[in-house]
Amino acid sequence: MTELTVPNCIHGRLTAIAEKVEKELNLILPTNLGQADCLSRAMRYAVLGGGKRLRPILLVQTGNLFGVSDDQLIRSGTALELVHCYSLIHDDLPCMDDDDFRRGQPTVHRKFDEATAVLAGDALLTLAFEVMADESTHFDPSIRIQLISELARASGDKGMVGGQMLDIRAGEGTLDQQYIERMQQLKTGALFRFAVFAGCLIGEASGTEIQTLLRFAENFGLAYQIADDIADAEIETGALAGNSAPSSHREAGNFVTIFGLKETKSRLAVLTKECLDCLKPLEERGEFLSETVRYLLKSRTETTV
Ligand code: IPE
Ligand code: IPE
Ligand code: MG
Ligand code: MG
Repeated sequence: MTELTVPNCIHGRLTAIAEKVEKELNLILPTNLGQADCLSRAMRYAVLGGGKRLRPILLVQTGNLFGVSDDQLIRSGTALELVHCYSLIHDDLPCMDDDDFRRGQPTVHRKFDEATAVLAGDALLTLAFEVMADESTHFDPSIRIQLISELARASGDKGMVGGQMLDIRAGEGTLDQQYIERMQQLKTGALFRFAVFAGCLIGEASGTEIQTLLRFAENFGLAYQIADDIADAEIETGALAGNSAPSSHREAGNFVTIFGLKETKSRLAVLTKECLDCLKPLEERGEFLSETVRYLLKSRTETTV
């Protein structure tokens, strides 16, 4: 792949993976739950509302590195996306970030009500494990068990939920770079790490390849969350100038609130470089993943690396 062709086709490739994920999500989500049908409507509303499908994209692209086809990877990616969507519903609740909008639409608790939002999140989380455990996800039960176990670890107290707890507590003490990076590595990085791990596992990557790619995933997760914080801060600044609504009511602690925009942007540039450096040993095989990283971080912040 030449430097010219990769950027030209990256958008099309990302869209193609996202469309496959969308199709699978549509099939997996419940449609008619009788008297509890508002639950299925809330689940579908939360999931099919225009997400970028970034985590399944990472999972699929990692598996592709080892010659695995999209079809063998989409179901695991879909299970991961269900966990991500549940995390967003709960993240937006009044007891968490108290946000009214997500993906340009009212948040689930605003569209329905708080109880329905909590239950839709619970149902998506459990559905994710039902999907992962099903034999159509992978023919080998020992791979399915590892996927289930790693997804549980990445989602719970040792991963995303643990990071969300650190986020909630961030307003209470002195924040330093170590605290914020730990929080962000858990709340966002853990699911990115799982995406890459799952692609490696299904692709039967070697121990060295797994270590390299996990380092990549950790840096990318952190960079992506920092890019999101920069984007939120810039929306906030625009909102203060009367341009648009602020993205979140609660901004306890992140890189921008502690170090300011300029320093945060330099940190993002360093992390992005570290992230791309991790892919160098893959040489040409890693070009698609490198372009994906550049494309996603650039589209988030317009930061050129
Ligand atoms: C939003 O994640 C939450 C963060 C971790 C920054 P995404 O930017 O992947 O959100 P969607 O799924 O595309 O809406
Ligand atoms: C969301 O983090 C991360 C998780 C849901 C785990 P944020 O609260 O920073 O993200 P946005 O800005 O609401 O998407
Ligand atoms: Mg939050
Ligand atoms: Mg939030």
